[in-house]
Amino acid sequence: MDLRARAYLKSLFAEASLIVREDPVGNTFARWTGANPSLPPVATGSHCDAIPNAGRFDGTVGVLGGLEAIRVLQRTGFAPQRSIELIVFTSEEPTRFGIGCLGSRLLASALDPSVGETLASGGQSLNQIRSSAGFSGSLAEVPLRDDAYAAFVELHIEQGPILERERVDIGVVTAIAAPASFRIFVEGEGGHAGAVLMPDRRDAFLAAAEIALAIEQIARSSGSNDTVATTGVCELFPGAINSVPSRARLDVDVRDIEQTRRDRVLQDIARACDTIAAHRGVMVRTEPINADPPAHCAPAIVDAIEGACNARGLRHQRMISRAYHDSLFMSRIAPTGMIFIPCRDGVSHRPEEYASPEAMARGTEVLADALAALAG
Ligand code: GLV
Ligand code: MN
Ligand code: MN
Repeated sequence: MDLRARAYLKSLFAEASLIVREDPVGNTFARWTGANPSLPPVATGSHCDAIPNAGRFDGTVGVLGGLEAIRVLQRTGFAPQRSIELIVFTSEEPTRFGIGCLGSRLLASALDPSVGETLASGGQSLNQIRSSAGFSGSLAEVPLRDDAYAAFVELHIEQGPILERERVDIGVVTAIAAPASFRIFVEGEGGHAGAVLMPDRRDAFLAAAEIALAIEQIARSSGSNDTVATTGVCELFPGAINSVPSRARLDVDVRDIEQTRRDRVLQDIARACDTIAAHRGVMVRTEPINADPPAHCAPAIVDAIEGACNARGLRHQRMISRAYHDSLFMSRIAPTGMIFIPCRDGVSHRPEEYASPEAMARGTEVLADALAALAG
C-alpha cells in the first residue's frame, strides 16, 4: 500500500517535470531546479502514511498541497532562483516502527543509523523492510548537512478546533510542543480465571490499568492544559477470557509545550509506577522511546507566511502546534515554519477528519506565495 502510494506520487512528480531522488530510508525528494542551483533549495513537504482508523488529510494535504504549490508557480511562469523541493517523509506516524518522524529524525541526525537493526515491524527489521522495498544504501547516508536547505515550510491541517471556531483562515505556527513516548512492561502472575482466588492474584492488567489512570491524573494536575498524556496501546498476555493476565504492555505518549513541565510529568509517572508495582506485587519496567524538545519556528519563515496571508487578505493567527510533525526535526537543520488550515470540528486521527477544498486551496496559495518569496 505504502509503495503504491509512493508510485502514484512519483508519477505526479514526473508529470510536473520534477527530479526525484530517494534516500536509503525512502524519504523522497522531488526537485524543481532553480536558476541558481548552487544555492541551498527551499523545501516543503509532509507525510503520506497514516495511523490505523485514520483520516485522509493528516500529512497528505502537505504533500499534495506542496505539489500543487509548485505547479501553480510553474503555471504562472515564475522562475525561482533557488530550487524548490518537495519532500515526502517516511513513517511520520509511530504506527509502523514504534517511533514517530522516522524519516525526518534520520535526516536531522536525531536517530542513530543502528535503528535499521533494532526497529522492526511485522517480525522484520527496518533494514529488511527497506531493502525489500528497494531502498538500498546505509542509513548513515540519510542525515543532511545543516545548510542543505535555506528554508522548510510544511502545510498541515490544524488537527484542533481553534481556527474553525475563531473563523480564521490560516494558522501561522510559532512552536511545536515537546513529545515524549515510552513503553511500560508489567509482569504479574497468570492463572486460571476460575481457580485463582481474588486475594491471591497479581494481575498484570489491573496494575497496568491503575498505571494508566495515574498517568491521566498526573497530566491533569500538572498545572497547565498544555500537558497531555495518552495511553494508546495496551497489550495483554496471554489474552484469553479465562486466564488472569500475566503480562501487560502499555505505550504512552506525553506532550507539553514546556519541556521542564513535560519532564516533571515523566518523573511523576515513574514514581507512580513504583508505588503501584509495590502495592500490586508486580514488576514494572519502563523503556523510553523518545523525549524530544519543543521546536521553535524561524521568525523569517513566520514573517514570510504572514506576509503571504496579508497580501491575500486572509485572516490569520499565530498558534502553537500541539501535534508533532516532520517540521519538529526539519527545524534542527533548516529555518522552518508551518501553515495550518482549519479542519472540521478539529477532528483528526479519525476517519471523520475533513478539510474543505476552499481551506486547502487557501493553504496551498499561502504556501506557494511563501515558497516564491523564500526562493527569490
Ligand atoms: C502526529 O501524528 C502526532 O501524533 O502528533
Ligand atoms: Mn498524524
Ligand atoms: Mn501529520
